[in-house]
Amino acid sequence: MSECMLKLENIVAGYGYGPDIIKNINLELNKGDIKCIIGPNGAGKSTVLKAIAGIIIPRNGTVSFNSEKGNLELSGMETYEIMKTGLCFIPQDRSLFNTLTVAENLAMAGYTINDKHDLRVRIDEALDTFPRLKERLTQYAGTMSGGEQQQLIFARAIILKPRVILIDEPSLGLAPAIVEQAFQHIENIASKGVSILLVEQNARRGLSSSNFGTVMDLGEIVFEKPANQVLSDDRIQELYLGKRKKK
Ligand SMILES: Nc1ncnc2c1ncn2[C@@H]1O[C@H](COP(=O)(O)OP(=O)(O)O)[C@@H](O)[C@H]1O
Ligand SMILES: [Mg+2]
Repeated sequence: MSECMLKLENIVAGYGYGPDIIKNINLELNKGDIKCIIGPNGAGKSTVLKAIAGIIIPRNGTVSFNSEKGNLELSGMETYEIMKTGLCFIPQDRSLFNTLTVAENLAMAGYTINDKHDLRVRIDEALDTFPRLKERLTQYAGTMSGGEQQQLIFARAIILKPRVILIDEPSLGLAPAIVEQAFQHIENIASKGVSILLVEQNARRGLSSSNFGTVMDLGEIVFEKPANQVLSDDRIQELYLGKRKKK
């Protein structure tokens, strides 16, 4: 039995005084797994990640996180507190500081790490993983290529030594070759025991790097299976993977 790292039970969430956008979401993420949430635009995929990360507060249900310090109930906690417990959220807009340098972006990522020697070691480890960034330490993040920015985003994430990473649309706006690199990085990070919950428009690509696939539609989970079974399911191919119906 693998260890459960993140568990959502009956999560309901929406925005402001608006309607419930996601309804009764039940989802589990085990250690080292990559789970990909797919589904049409507006299905509520990003909303699920935001509800876990505390960007919006769930209206009902629980989010349990197997943190370093034991089991934690996340719903109701502030985002910055959640990030300190070992759960990292990479939003769709990527949230790099474009007018800061690579080195400054890395330092900012670790601002909650009080032991400055430890932070130095972690930054060096991240730079060994992404050597390209080492050559770019004084460059402004906003002036780097899409692929380099993507590496900086992953480097910032691993500095925090997270147990779980949530990633919204990692392939968005990237050239095909860079998309391949991004998924390689995701697989490498997971192979070290980090669990990854991913939302991806490019459903086939996302699923092919994942162990599990979760299909969402109209705010609900309609299907959850090993990723290869989601990829090969005729009905899912027709409805969600853009395969044309056989005549
Ligand atoms: N900040 C927001 N305020 C109000 N409604 C929002 C907000 N963000 C998303 N929504 C609505 O929530 C629904 C689901 O959005 P989202 O979770 O972003 O879908 P997906 O990521 O699957 O495309 C959409 O109808 C969208 O209009
Ligand atoms: Mg989205």
